This record gives sequence, structure tokens and C-alpha cells, in this order.
Amino acid sequence: MTRLVIMSNRVAAPNSRGSGGAQGGLAGALLGALKSRGGLWFGWSGETAEAPSNEPAVVTQDGATFATVDLSPEEIADYYEGYANSTLWPLFHDRLDLAEYERDTGIGYEAVNERFADCVSPMLRADDVVWVHDYHLIPMGDALRRRGFRNRIGFFLHIPWPPTRLLTSLPHHERLVRALLAYDVVGFQSAEWLDSFQHYCAKELGASVGEDSGEIRIDGHCTVARSFPIGIDFDHFIGLGETGEARQTAQRLLSSTRRRTAMIGVDRLDYSKGLPERLDGISRFFERHPEQVNDLVFIQIAPPSREDIESYQQIRAVLEQKAGQINGAYSRIDLVPVRYVNQGLSAAELFGAFRACKIGLVTPLRDGMNLVAKEYVAAQDPEDPGVLILSRFAGAAEQLTQALQVNPHSPDDIARNIAIALEMPLDERKARWQPMFECVRTQNLEVWTRTFLDALVSCGTPIAPSDINSPGSTSLS
Ligand code: G6P
Repeated sequence: MTRLVIMSNRVAAPNSRGSGGAQGGLAGALLGALKSRGGLWFGWSGETAEAPSNEPAVVTQDGATFATVDLSPEEIADYYEGYANSTLWPLFHDRLDLAEYERDTGIGYEAVNERFADCVSPMLRADDVVWVHDYHLIPMGDALRRRGFRNRIGFFLHIPWPPTRLLTSLPHHERLVRALLAYDVVGFQSAEWLDSFQHYCAKELGASVGEDSGEIRIDGHCTVARSFPIGIDFDHFIGLGETGEARQTAQRLLSSTRRRTAMIGVDRLDYSKGLPERLDGISRFFERHPEQVNDLVFIQIAPPSREDIESYQQIRAVLEQKAGQINGAYSRIDLVPVRYVNQGLSAAELFGAFRACKIGLVTPLRDGMNLVAKEYVAAQDPEDPGVLILSRFAGAAEQLTQALQVNPHSPDDIARNIAIALEMPLDERKARWQPMFECVRTQNLEVWTRTFLDALVSCGTPIAPSDINSPGSTSLS
């Protein structure tokens, strides 16, 4: 039987705490996809070693095998903190002002991709289907092809794809995109990111782009590019709502807020999430409605992320200052309007927190999808659902059209929609929530995984067994 091999930089170690939406949707989502199918997941261990071995550490649990390797301090600096998170991440999130272009980090990025390809190659089998994830590993498909791997290889980008005018500011942008075209299938979170990718391929590479088929043809090779919006592991998440952990968290939160309406935000501490802008919107709301301090409390869960990168240290300082300003201006002796929690919660605790909060505030400036928005919807009480306020610049906005959609750059728009959410009658809350819940329930993680893998297996011409590991190919067993 065909085995699924997942490759990503971040690997969710078995039983790790809080690998769901709060800490970044990728690891939690892939864990769900792998658990239901079994297979191999390869990536970085999250550890540093002075002289890392190319022999992966292997752990097997519930039919899934996790194979990880360490990175050296230089590799972390150039590949992870450098090119992936100080060049591609800001550029792909429209933050040209934060994007750094250093030749050495680009070289380090490609070198780690080559090393990962060396490490995983001996583990690959002739009938594997390989699914590579996210911006850290764009060159991986090409690296595996050069090592003789002829099987299906797909790639999914969890973050946005930037407009062509931004991408062309990246030195060697063409090399990066051509590497993507070594895959059989390339997937994006939304039609908008797919559209930008097709535009680049047609305009900058002169590729032929089949609007309906999704086929991108260049130099005799065909790649299928499509949008595959990721979903949550719905049944698993709903099941968490029955746990004591979820119920206790909801209870604790409700008793601590007393009769005030609780509004929640859950995000990695990242500048793309629009956290200072969100606090400006909340500040504007209290400026306009100071009496509402008695009625509304905002809870921001913001686990730290990528703490060794300067732009992440800055966002943390800005956020602490803004939360402090609002609390300084509006706190009373017995209440504080903003609770800023600098640590993550488990997925069950998140369920409980979402259930207890009548407004979910999800206002990234730019986001590939945003699974927190979907988890918030899933966790609501059908008889008394809360209101989702959602940035129009999150991939989720394409699907969750009944949310109150806002421009996250505008404090006035955020403030106005908080007021609307607080006043919204039960009938309207139900009418908005119901179709969003159906969307989250049906367009779930299992459907996403199946749709992508079906596209990957059925694209192009079948590969004859004799084509696999033909003479001249390398060590693939
Ligand atoms: C985003 C990215 C993921 C990444 C996650 C957490 O969701 O798309 O690839 O794993 O953030 O970031 P980190 O740098 O801690 O892996």
C-alpha cells in the first residue's frame, strides 16, 4: 500500500502540549492528518546540536513514525531564523519593510534543504507519496528529484502567496518559484493566493496557465496548482469539549469575568497577527464607550514565538505597552479590561475558553488561513453562539463569510464591530453561526487531506513501477 510521507520543518512530537491553532496551525493539523492514515513524518527535532547527525531519531506511535534531525546553530541562524523567518515570512505577509535579503541566509536555506533530502532519502520507498509543507522547504521537491526520486511529490503552502510586485523584490525569486514547479501538485489556502501564484508564473516565467485545469506548463513539465483550504480536525476538537479540562477552563473563565461579556483573541505573538492594531481598536472602543468597562473584558492569549528574532522581540514590547496603556486608563479597583496571557493553552483548554467567550476577535493583517477562527466557531454553544469578528485579510474570510468582517488596520472598524457584536440579538447570532459551523464541520481536516492526496495521486500520467528507482537513481530503497 502507498505510504504517506510528510515533510515539514516543525514536527509535532507525540503527546506534545498545545500543538493546535494557538501555536501555529500546521503542526497540529498535520498530526491529525497523519494519525488517521499512518505513515512517516520527517523534519527538524526543534533541537540544536554543534555537529548534527544525518541519521534521524525515529519514534513510532499509533502507526505513525516520526523521524527528526537536529540543526546546528549556524543552520538555525541562516535557514530558520534567517531566510525562512526574516526573508520569506515577512515578504509573504506583505511586510516588505521587515524582509531582510542576505546572500548567506539564502545559501544556508538551500543547504539545509539539501541536507534534509540526504537524511530522508534512505528512508523513502518506491511507492511512497511525499507531501512537503510550507515555506521552509520549497526547494525540497527539486532536491528529491535530483536524488532520483520519481514518485508523486506535492507541496502545500500554509501561508499567503504574495502579489507579483512584492515577490519580484526578492533576489533570485525566479529560482524559488522554479523549484516549486518541480512538484506534481502545489496547493494554496485560498483562491486569492492561487491567483497571485498563477499571475507570477504567467508574467515572470512565461508559463502557460490553465485557468480551469490548474495546470502550469513550462519546459515540458506540468504542475497542478490549486486552492485547498485547510480545515480543523473537527471530530477530535468537538470531542475535547466533553473533557473535564475544557469544562473547567470555561467555568474558571466565566466565574472570573463575573457578569462581563468575555471577548477572546488567541494568536502566536507574531507581527502578522495584527495584535497592536487590535489593541488600538479596543482602546478606540473604550474611548467611545467608557461605561462598557463594566460589561466587557478582553482576553488575549499570546504564546511567544521565534523569540530570538528582533522583530518578534519588538512586537512583544509594543503589545505589553499598549495593553498596559489601556489597563492604566480604564481599570477600576475591582476590574481590568485587558488580560494579556503570554503562554499557550492546550487544545482542550482552548475549547473551553472559546465556549466561554461571546466574541472571538481574529484580526490578522495577513494570514494564510487562520484555524483559530474555525476553532472558535466549532466551540460555540448552538443555542447561544458567540460572534466571530474576522479580518478580511485572513484566508478564512473566503469561507467564513457570515462573520463580521473587518479591516484590521482600522481601529474605528474594529471598535464599531465590537459594538455590533455586543448588541447582536440571539436570532442573528444563530443565523450567522449556523452556516459557518456547517462549513467548519464539512470542510474539515480529513476532507482537506483526502482532496489534496487525491489530486496528487491522480495528476499527470501514471508512473510505471519500472520507472521507480531506475538505473541511475540514488539510494532510494
Ligand atoms: C505558522 C507556519 C508554520 C509554523 C508555525 C509556528 O503556522 O505556517 O510552518 O510551524 O507558524 O512557527 P514556528 O516557527 O514556531 O514553527
